[in-house]
Amino acid sequence: RPVSLIGAPTDIGASVRGAGMGPDALRVAGLLEALRASKLEVVDRGNLAGPPNPWQPPHNGTRHLPEVVAWNWAVYTAVDQALSDGHVPLLMGGDHSLALGSISAVARHCRASGRQLRVVWLDAHTDINTESISPSGNLHGMPVSCLLGHGPRDLVGWSGEPAAITPEQIDFVGIRSVDADEKQAIRQLGLQVFDMRHIDEHGMRTTMAEVLQDVHDDTHLHVSFDLDCLDPLDAPGVGTGVRGGPTYREMQLCMEMIADTGRLASLDVVEINPALDVRNRTAELAVDFVLSLFGASTLQR
Ligand code: ARG
Ligand code: MN
Ligand code: MN
Ligand code: MN
Repeated sequence: RPVSLIGAPTDIGASVRGAGMGPDALRVAGLLEALRASKLEVVDRGNLAGPPNPWQPPHNGTRHLPEVVAWNWAVYTAVDQALSDGHVPLLMGGDHSLALGSISAVARHCRASGRQLRVVWLDAHTDINTESISPSGNLHGMPVSCLLGHGPRDLVGWSGEPAAITPEQIDFVGIRSVDADEKQAIRQLGLQVFDMRHIDEHGMRTTMAEVLQDVHDDTHLHVSFDLDCLDPLDAPGVGTGVRGGPTYREMQLCMEMIADTGRLASLDVVEINPALDVRNRTAELAVDFVLSLFGASTLQR
């Protein structure tokens, strides 16, 4: 199936400015050409439009909520369109708050087409804060709650159901920074979090085998890839880097095992911040990993 690149140039949900330049950093790193070189059909649908970042302090527990709603609406519409066209939407963020619009559109599409949605959340963070527990008010720390039906009301219910996904439908990989109240939410909801300790003890191979064990022929696999999942030594261009991420090789294996399922059907690539990067290294790294996700490992394609 053809891949649709969708740019969402905004840092509206982030704690530092700069992620709005992510889509162009990916283009400059040659994402489109690299995918084409590995024999995929690709269309670049250009950048979405949305409100500027007013850079205001939090208000009732959230920062820039109306603007986050507006950007997510644009994302929802574009992802929905790409899916109806039979394409694989590749959302180029932008910060991680945009996963709400992206995954809500995917969830609606899956329900309509009778497919089982599974989400793999590759991140240093679980992004499961709500407006009442977030220490920062930044909405890039809340998209998972919104998808589970627990976030700010304006960001809940977008898939047409009270919750876009249930806790069993999402697995987290690479986690090493969880806020105190997020830990409680994880326990209460029974979420499956494969943190760095799990990867240290069991290895990436066993970890991904666990994550992917219930992927079947009728599964729609969505990957939400926050570049801060990687170690900041490899990926310096992120706003909320945390030391101790998976190595380059571990991350490649993770991507290749996802590719092997043949079920990858939508993707977010978020939180690249060119203002903090070193010679576009983080976007170039993202291109490497996206290629592997689409099956371009050493001896294939
Ligand atoms: N847990 C922190 C917060 O909620 C950091 C979230 C970082 N999220 C991200 N998508 N980079 O403010
Ligand atoms: Mn993160
Ligand atoms: Mn699971
Ligand atoms: Mn994130």
